[in-house]
Amino acid sequence: MIILEILAIFLGCFFLFNLILYFVEPSLIAITFSLVLRLFYKNPPMVDLEKHFSKHQLLKDNWRTIQEELIELLKNENDIPKFHEVDKIQKFIANKDQAAWRVFMFKAYGNWQEGNCNKAPKTTSLLKEIPGITTAMFSILGPQKHIPPHNGFYKGVYRYHLGLIIPKLGECYIINGGHRYDWKEGEDILFDDTYKHAVWNKTEETRVVLFCDIFRNDLPKIFQPINRWVYGLREKSQRLKNVLKNAEVQVDLKKEPHAPTATKA
Ligand SMILES: [Fe+2]
Repeated sequence: MIILEILAIFLGCFFLFNLILYFVEPSLIAITFSLVLRLFYKNPPMVDLEKHFSKHQLLKDNWRTIQEELIELLKNENDIPKFHEVDKIQKFIANKDQAAWRVFMFKAYGNWQEGNCNKAPKTTSLLKEIPGITTAMFSILGPQKHIPPHNGFYKGVYRYHLGLIIPKLGECYIINGGHRYDWKEGEDILFDDTYKHAVWNKTEETRVVLFCDIFRNDLPKIFQPINRWVYGLREKSQRLKNVLKNAEVQVDLKKEPHAPTATKA
């Protein structure tokens, strides 16, 4: 009986806490929801692509087309914003070593960045064919970039990487939850970024992957609609609206080409 009372008090406090969050900053409910998922659902750090993101094949089959558009964009690489310029909260992980980590954002937290999408229409139309993608971007790591160990906080999505431009000389890899993966062009992976992970580009070349977050399809049924609702709350966050605005590449990359920087084809 006492246990039931304690449980009722706990659930009441949890509900009240989330209600307060809803009125103060709705997107923070994502933190408590993630905690609940961590308690009730376990998964390995690297997850099965076919099982959890079968539509990846469309992107993988068309990786050369995506790469061609990317190479065009990279002719003006310096006009693509750095990650911490798009989202200041990323400064610790994105700019600790001053080496560049640039992001060409297609979709952020459920919203398309139409200005950017128009600059890479073929990639955009592929992405738009796949429901469940919440965020999508070209993640562009400069030479000798290191992203220090950190944990993603939202447990309701899995992270997808498709290798597009991968250095040939030297090591370039991610370690997630103790598992090392060396990117390969045209090859993809899916993982849970809430495990501790870090990245090294120990080369003098640029590395680019297509980076997507997708809704998890393996949560218990009751959590699926809650996951989408909680994720939707994030769209109301002023910070995330700013992310979308900051992510726009401000020049017409095709009409105003700058002197190309050293990138690898
Ligand atoms: Fe990360």
